[in-house]
Amino acid sequence: MRRKLAAGNWKMNGLVDDLSEIKALTEAHPDPDVDMLICAPATLIAQMAWARGTHALQIGGQTCHAERSGAHTGDISAPMLRDAGASHVLVGHSERRTDHGETDADVAGQAAAAHAAGLVAVICIGETLDQRESGHALTVITDQLRGSLPPGATAANTVIAYEPVWAIGTGKVPTTEQIGEVHGTLRATLRDLMKQAEGVRLLYGGSVKGSNAGEIFAVADVDGALVGGASLKAADFSPIVSAL
Ligand code: G3H
Repeated sequence: MRRKLAAGNWKMNGLVDDLSEIKALTEAHPDPDVDMLICAPATLIAQMAWARGTHALQIGGQTCHAERSGAHTGDISAPMLRDAGASHVLVGHSERRTDHGETDADVAGQAAAAHAAGLVAVICIGETLDQRESGHALTVITDQLRGSLPPGATAANTVIAYEPVWAIGTGKVPTTEQIGEVHGTLRATLRDLMKQAEGVRLLYGGSVKGSNAGEIFAVADVDGALVGGASLKAADFSPIVSAL
C-alpha cells in the first residue's frame, strides 16, 4: 500500500514572515494520515525545519547539483540540503528544465546525488502543450522517465511527479482520463525499469486546488499531488491534504 503524499512547492516565494503558514498548516493537521512535504526556497529550509517543531511535516529543496561540493557558484548540493534539514528534493521540475536547460541526463545525475546524500528525489516530468496536441504526450513522458531515473532508484528513495507543462500555473487541468492514462503508462514503464515499481508514488501536479483535488485523487495510480500556488497558504493547501 502506497502512503499518500501531499507535496507543496513554494518555488521562488517565501520570506521569514511566511513561516507562519507552516505553523498554521501543522496546527490544521496535527496528526495527518498522509505524508506532507513542503519544498522550500533554500533560504528557508533550516528555519522551516525549526518552525515545524516535532510535527511529521517533511521539508524538501527544489533542486540540487549532481556533485557533492566544489566550484559551482550559486548552486546547492544534496548534502547541503540534508544538512539544513531537508529529507526530499525536487529534480527536473519543468521550470528548471526550461530556465536552466536541464536535460534528462542532468536530472538523473541530480537524483543520484540526492540518493547518495540520503534524500528522496522527486523526479518531475511532463509534456508541453505542443507535445500533447501532436499526440506525443505518452512518448515524451516515457522517454523522460527512462532518461531521468538513475540506477539505484527504489520505492523508498524516489517519487515521480507528472506535471504537464501546460497545466502549471494556468488553471488548466487534464481530464481525469488523461491523468489516468499517463499514470498507468508511468507505472507500466517503472515495471520495466525497476523491481519496486509498485511501491513508487506517482504524484500529479498542475493547477491542483481544493476544489479539484478530490476527483484527481480518485484516479488510479495517483498517489498524491505536487502543488505550486495553492501550497503557499495553509488555508489553500489544507483542503488538498484533507482530500487525500
Ligand atoms: O511544482 C508545482 C507545479 O509546478 C504546479 O504548480 O500548482 O501552481 O500549477 P501550480
